[in-house]
Amino acid sequence: MKGIILSGGSGSRLAPLTKVTSKQLLPIYNKPMIFYPLETLLKAGIKDILIIVSPDRAGDYLRLLGSGKDFGARFAYEIQDKPEGLAQAFIIGENFIGEDNVCMILGDNIFEDDFSQAISSFKSGGMIFAKQVSDPERSGVVVFDKNMKALKIVEKPKEHLSDYAIPGLYIYDNRVIEAAKQVKPSARGELEITDLHNWYLEKGELQVDIVKGEWIDAGTFESLFKATELARKKSQKQ
Ligand code: TTP
Repeated sequence: MKGIILSGGSGSRLAPLTKVTSKQLLPIYNKPMIFYPLETLLKAGIKDILIIVSPDRAGDYLRLLGSGKDFGARFAYEIQDKPEGLAQAFIIGENFIGEDNVCMILGDNIFEDDFSQAISSFKSGGMIFAKQVSDPERSGVVVFDKNMKALKIVEKPKEHLSDYAIPGLYIYDNRVIEAAKQVKPSARGELEITDLHNWYLEKGELQVDIVKGEWIDAGTFESLFKATELARKKSQKQ
């Protein structure tokens, strides 16, 4: 299993904090934000990690993270010229992924859960996660039937369809590269990750598991503050 941390984007909702640095390099208590998704991958046993960044911040990432040796891992870097969508990561990462399966995490997503079990038991298809939240329309949502079978996945729905948001951690088999190449840009000009989930769902090969612990997408002032509080609490407990 290869790992990808998608850490480009514009971070416009956190302006002016993001005017001179990348969102995922901002501090969350005592560490840069990207350390949290990085630790999630490392904890799950993933050692080969591609970090996808925007061109203007690439040097900062290289200085901070280096070869990966300090983390007992191997890091590779790619540039995403423009934030043209999450699904583009699998096209950018094609050579890096090679023949392997891949687990992608977003650089601003913070999880409490340990995904080791999910990753070691993964064989083929797609595996995504769902979390019951009060503001699911901020991300993609998954609609379940009464037996918790996933029926439908919709990107940022305008009306309320489901209480379950899809957090930014996705596991796919190698076919995701070909699937990503088939995705057409959406109305907002992005290659949507939702199209990849649906590609697997239509084939009956998408598994959706529930995230039990905390999940924070730290992309807004409120969630950034909440993430800092959580990190502080955990650090003091340790
Ligand atoms: P978002 O939070 O949706 O977008 P953003 O980071 O550009 O922020 P804003 O909406 O405030 O302008 O992105 C989720 C994560 O994915 C985040 O870590 C950035 C990353 N991302 C990319 O690296 N490339 C992309 O093309 C997109 C859309 C997001």
